[in-house]
Order: sequence, then C-alpha cells, then structure tokens
Amino acid sequence: MPKYDFLVIGSGIAGLSYTAKLASHFADKKQDVKIAVITKTVAEETNTKYAQGGIAAVWNNEDSFEKHIEDTMIAGDFLSDPKVVEIVVKEAPARLQELIDYGTEFDKKADGSYDLVKEGGHSDHRILHHKDSTGNEIERALLAKVKSFPSVEIFTHYFAIDLITQHHLGEKVTKDTPDKKCYGVYVFNTLTGKPETFLAKTTLLATGGIGQIYQSTTNPTIATGDGISMAYRAKALVDNMEFIQFHPTSLYQPGKKPSFLISEAVRGHGGILKNKDGETFMENYDPRLSLAPRDIVARAIDSEMKKNGVDHVYLDTRHLEAEDFKHHFPMIYNYCKDHLGLDITGNDMIPVVPAQHYLCGGIKVNEYSQTTINYLFAAGECSCTGLHGANRLASNSLLEAIVYAHRAFEKTIEIYQENTIPDNIPDWNDDGTTHPEELILVTEMTRELESIMSNYVGIVRTDRRLKRAYDRLELIYIEHEELYRESKLSVQICQLRNMINAAYLVIKHAIARKENRGLHYNLDNIR
Ligand code: FAD
Ligand code: SIN
Repeated sequence: MPKYDFLVIGSGIAGLSYTAKLASHFADKKQDVKIAVITKTVAEETNTKYAQGGIAAVWNNEDSFEKHIEDTMIAGDFLSDPKVVEIVVKEAPARLQELIDYGTEFDKKADGSYDLVKEGGHSDHRILHHKDSTGNEIERALLAKVKSFPSVEIFTHYFAIDLITQHHLGEKVTKDTPDKKCYGVYVFNTLTGKPETFLAKTTLLATGGIGQIYQSTTNPTIATGDGISMAYRAKALVDNMEFIQFHPTSLYQPGKKPSFLISEAVRGHGGILKNKDGETFMENYDPRLSLAPRDIVARAIDSEMKKNGVDHVYLDTRHLEAEDFKHHFPMIYNYCKDHLGLDITGNDMIPVVPAQHYLCGGIKVNEYSQTTINYLFAAGECSCTGLHGANRLASNSLLEAIVYAHRAFEKTIEIYQENTIPDNIPDWNDDGTTHPEELILVTEMTRELESIMSNYVGIVRTDRRLKRAYDRLELIYIEHEELYRESKLSVQICQLRNMINAAYLVIKHAIARKENRGLHYNLDNIR
C-alpha cells in the first residue's frame, strides 16, 4: 500500500494551490516528502477551468475591505459568518499576489494597472480576470507550478471511492465519535479497473461541486458531489446544502449539458436583461436591476418565464461597442457565433436561462479548513466555510478556495506528523461482486434523479415538491444500494451513489429550513 505524507483529492484551484504551497514549503526546507494528487479524469478537467468572470479582491485605493465585506454579507442574506468574511476579504490580496507570482496572467489596462471589472452585488470594480476565461488561465499556471516539484505525483483517472477511518478497522464510528481519524482513501484506478489503497497522514478533499445532480448546470461532468458524499458517509458534518446557486444567465441551448455560461461580467459591462418582447423587466424586481445579487436575478427571470410561458429571456449586448466587447469576451462572442449563428454585437440578443451553477454549502470546516474528522481537510466548493451564507457573491468562490487552501496548508504542516497510520488497514474487499450486466439501470436512475432535483428542488420550492422529491429519491436509493452491493466498482455506479447522497442532503436541508433566505425560496414559507 503506498503511503504519503499528504494526499490531495482534486486538481482544481483548491487542490492545486494547497499542493503548490506544501511542495514549495518542503522544497525550501530541503525536506523530502511525498505528496499525491488524485483526480478522476485528466488534471485540467475541473470547475476551475471553466470559470469566466474572475476573482474578487480589494485591489484599488477607492475600494475598501469594509465594502467587500458588506457586499458579501448582503449577497449572503446575512447568513455568512462575519469572522470568516473578514478573514477571506482581508487575506485576498496576499493570496492573489501568490497566484500572480505563480505565473497567472490577469488582464491589464494600457497604463499597466489591472483591469478591474464589476459583477452583480459588488459595489466597486474589484474583479481580476483573464479575458472571459480566467479559470483556464489559473488552472494552467497552477498545474505548471505543481508539476515543477519532484515531491508531487499526480494520479489522473483515479476515482476516490471512500475515506478510510477507524470504521475500516471494525470500530463503530458515528457523527458523535469525538476522535474520528482519516488515514487516506480507497481509490478506483479507472485505467486498470482495480481498487487501490492510498494511505496518508493528512487528506484534503478538494473535489468541487454537485452540479450534475441537476438537468441543467454550468458544471462539467466531474461535478457529482463525490467529496461531500464520501465525507458524509465517513460521518463528517455537512452543512447548508439547501443553498444551491442558479446562475441567471446560461446560454439557452435545450438539451445541452453542461450549459455554456454567459458571464455575469457581461452584465457588469452593460448587458441588459430583457423579456420575450425585448422589454426590460428587472425594474419590477430590484433597484439594482440586472446587477442585483444572483438569487434575486435568477428568481426574477424564473418568474418572467413562468408569467409569459416562455423557455428563456434575453441578454441584450447590441448597444455595446463591438470591438471592445469582442476584446473583453472573445470566448462568449465566438461561442454564440459558432454554435447558434448569433452576432451578439450586431443584430442578435442572447437567449439566456438560469442553470444550476454553485453549491454554497458542503463539508463543514473551521477557519483552518479542518473537517470534523481529524487529519481530514476540505477546501474549495466542496467545503462550507461560512463565507457564502445563503448566497455566494460573484467571484468569491475562486477567492475562498485560495484563502482556505492556504489556511489548510498552515494547519497541515503543524499537525501532520501527529497522525499514526495503523498497520492493519485492509484492502478494498469486493468478494462476491460481479460486473453489472445492465448499466442502463444506472443511466435511467441518473436521469430520474436529475429530473427530481430540477422539477422539485429548483429555484422555487414548495413543501409538497420537497416531500415528493424525498420520497422519489428514497426509491432510487434503495434500488441503487442493492445494485452497488452486488457490483464490481465502476465510475458510473460510484458516481450515482454520490449523486444520490448529495441530492438527499440538499432535499433534507431544504425541508429543514423553514424561512426563505437567499437562495432557499419555498412558497409555503410565505403563505
Ligand atoms: P474543481 O475546480 O471543480 O475541482 C474538483 C476536482 O476534484 C477535479 O480535479 C475533479 O476531477 C476532482 N474530483 C472530484 N471527485 C473526485 C473523485 N471521486 N476522485 C478523484 N478526483 C475527484 N467562481 C468564481 O469565483 N469566479 C468565476 O468567474 C467563476 N466562474 C465560473 C464559471 C463556470 C462555468 C463554473 C462552472 C463555475 C464558476 N465559478 C466561478 C465557480 C468556481 O469555478 C468553482 O467553485 C471553483 O473552481 C471550484 O474549485 P475547486 O478546486 O473547489 O473544485
Ligand atoms: C461568471 O462569470 O458569471 C461566474 C462568476 C462566478 O460564478 O462567480
């Protein structure tokens, strides 16, 4: 069984920035350590890679920490933890400078200063970006940095199945067991088709979001809630799962999954939302118009679509200066032209519709990214730090990931040597299992789950819809558990298991919240 000092599950911004810090720290000390990064497909395939708008930080003299803190609190409907908000906002410039030092290129103006843009809910220009493909640039720079260290081994096409705790030594572990410890993870090597055991003194979950549990999402196929589900099964605390963020403007392309995002920065640049008749409507919902926080804009669009019986609204960019628009948003401009034949700087408005985009909750962590299981950390979208409260402020996600990856790094180097890995950890046992003959069952169960979540646990909820979702999901859970127990490992079966767990947590937490707050909006709470 390979043994590592540090195990990182996930190669997005959270996993890689943590890895870069660890590797660089021990390289400076000339100390040999072993760091494993495992990732379920190729290293680049992450939510991070698709981030468009940018990353928020107070970066000019007119802006202030107080304003960024206030904007974050307002967007989060005052459910964010004020201490955490202050930590993230104040540490943002230092963490961002590190990304720049690693080689990330953010756009600059002619005078050499950074081109700061604005998005919904921000009271100032404070978003650094790389055209409209910021995430791709960050992922490129971080991967190059991480690959420069011999201490780091990246295992691509390795799918983490379950965390290893005392449970695997035959001890009873519940969520109240005080000294739960993580010793690593069981992994499915998707190239050999064999399970493997990775032992480690510390493990970081940086597995991203859950978008794939919905029919329409901006998240790529890797976003199936694996880390959250693994942590939940290992009895870690998971929180705030009801707060699912729907991005107001994904491109309307029926049947396409994932949905292509039309960045909020387009509205920050002057794009205006219009209804089917080409009339503005946001004045009926919020004085901040198209740049109100996302929960409000997504609900307004949902309401307009239902009122008018249509499948989308429009984002109008025709009035914006064409060359300037193409310079700022080349990917969006070209995508609309190449895929829908639209000239969005000429005659055509962009058809847009809300799509699942981000999970505000996740694995509960303290201010050093520690979960409720010892030696298990979580950072990035799979974690719940308390920053986002009931709704995330635009471009605060990439930021949270680098701030908490840093904090996880600081705590990791302090405690990792305290963990002793027992010698008697068993290998994965799949005795008596067979290769399933009918994977169509998994495909169909996945479709049903997506439909349940989209129809009953979307932007607008009711008690009846949530109950129906709960009951229907339970049937899928029972059916799938039986299949899982009888089957040899496969990515499809493991992923569906995680999607069911994640969906269950979203529904359970949505049922439990009896107030409308931020992204959780239940009509029965106002009746
Ligand atoms: P990810 O980047 O999603 O990485 C997850 C990693 O975990 C992947 O490597 C994956 O392979 C791995 N993994 C998952 N499960 C397993 C498993 N079982 N075994 C092994 N590996 C596993 N946020 C902003 O702040 N600004 C933006 O402009 C912005 N734009 C966005 C645009 C789009 C289209 C999307 C989808 C999101 C956007 N976001 C934005 C949100 C932000 O990109 C994500 O929240 C953030 O990148 C998440 O980073 P992460 O490191 O937590 O996870
Ligand atoms: C976008 O570009 O609109 C996405 C920004 C974010 O999710 O923070």
